[in-house]
Amino acid sequence: KLPDNAGTSVTVMDLDGYYLPTFNELKNHEEELRSIPDWQARDDDLMICTYPKSGTHWIWEIVSMLVKKKAERVSAVKETAMLEIMAKATLDNMPSPRVLNSHVYFEYLPKDFAKRRCKIIYAMRNPKDVAVSFFNHHSKICEYEFSGTWENYVQRFLKGDVDYGTWFDYTQKWEKFMADNPEYPIFMTTYEDMKQDPLRQVTRIAKFLEIDCDQAFLQEVTDLCQFDRMKKEKDALGEQVDAWKDGVPGMYRKGQVGDWKNWFTVAQSELFDRVYQERMKDSKVQPRFTL
Ligand code: A3P
Repeated sequence: KLPDNAGTSVTVMDLDGYYLPTFNELKNHEEELRSIPDWQARDDDLMICTYPKSGTHWIWEIVSMLVKKKAERVSAVKETAMLEIMAKATLDNMPSPRVLNSHVYFEYLPKDFAKRRCKIIYAMRNPKDVAVSFFNHHSKICEYEFSGTWENYVQRFLKGDVDYGTWFDYTQKWEKFMADNPEYPIFMTTYEDMKQDPLRQVTRIAKFLEIDCDQAFLQEVTDLCQFDRMKKEKDALGEQVDAWKDGVPGMYRKGQVGDWKNWFTVAQSELFDRVYQERMKDSKVQPRFTL
């Protein structure tokens, strides 16, 4: 029943057909996951929602600096605030305001979160770059024990035979959520917009979060979160070195729009486009595959 993770199924849990990775040492992880909808939220909780590999670390770093009003490297890693891999007790003990992040669908988030109308930042990235980034993620994180080929991975990604399911469903669920709940405080950005004009996006996020700050601060935050700098400084903090093959941290890999062109053959790209057209035929979402 579990996706064939090229030899490993231990890291992927099947939650009623929804595949989730189980990275931590949580006992009763399935019970914890199933109980998330009943967890208590706080009015000032912030949630960053993304399909994996859409720039979550980047946004988490930005938002963490904005809410602290400090243009300083964040010493924690974003996984410490990732809802589906933390225990309820850890969440309960976090100081406010909590900058949380998650890749799960809205219905798996705490119900109390919606009741309190906690703010959400939702970010999307074009699915070809996501596929490349996710392939590298699976290939290089030891625990996956993944040794599949790129050719095979493209097929799996298109089918949603990866943890967190398909990009197509994830993206359309958020599209529907936003259409059905126009009053909900949700801010949407894209990886491509962030790359094109990071200061503008940081400014928009700060406005959405009602952070009272000046332009110089926004510029500092933007600069601190620029890819090369963030990669160097986060990697130097020892971000999960042991988790990566050969001890080379790979979370901050390339940080570009359009790297997919170095990976997809023409045939793979055409297949992807065909599946995209079919799966997204009712969607108004228009990802940018290049800048
Ligand atoms: P690549 O693998 O294409 O380089 P997530 O944080 O959701 O797991 O997404 C990871 C992707 O975001 C990786 O993409 C990573 O390099 C990129 N990324 C992380 N920090 C970034 C930053 N500051 N600027 C641009 N891209 C960043």
